Amino acid sequence: MPQPKELISAAAIAARIAALAKEIDARLPPGPLTAVGVLRGAFVFMADLVRAIPREMSCDFLGVRSYGDATVSSGVVEITSDLAAPIAGRHVLLIEDIVDTGLTLRYLMDLLVARGPASLHTCVLLSKPSPRGISAPIDFVGFEAPDAFVVGYGLDAAQLYRNLPYIGVVEPSK
Ligand code: IMP
Ligand code: MG
Repeated sequence: MPQPKELISAAAIAARIAALAKEIDARLPPGPLTAVGVLRGAFVFMADLVRAIPREMSCDFLGVRSYGDATVSSGVVEITSDLAAPIAGRHVLLIEDIVDTGLTLRYLMDLLVARGPASLHTCVLLSKPSPRGISAPIDFVGFEAPDAFVVGYGLDAAQLYRNLPYIGVVEPSK
């Protein structure tokens, strides 16, 4: 298993999350929050982000699987695990690891809006410069990602590397 090349250090991630949390807390309507993490990729990011947002909140999770190859989305997103509690009337922050085409985020936003939250905001750790983009408004972005497959800090390649403390790129074997 090759060691990924570091792209964003653990210290840079921590600094960005501290700033992001302040921005989120300042911009979201006042009141209790439901933080919704998209499994599995967002679990590390969410754990750090929610601890930096000083307000009353509950944490819930959506399990998602998207089909499609590396470049073209099939247009199908499957929910493998639903929220544990209703979000009607709640302020919701949807937390995702990375947005590429926007298909997953768009699908999840439509799903959540239909349940009548008081507000819905989206936060992603990484955003790729995707020309294939499906429109999915993102309220808060951690970092712009390169147009390469990134791993670590929750993100995987074939389920590996989620436990890396930094974000890196697996270089293609020569
Ligand atoms: P989208 O639906 O095309 O926006 O793809 C988003 C999903 O694809 C994310 O939730 C990730 O699970 C996965 N994904 C996209 N790019 C990467 C990457 O560079 N590394 C790891 N996972 C990725
Ligand atoms: Mg994901």
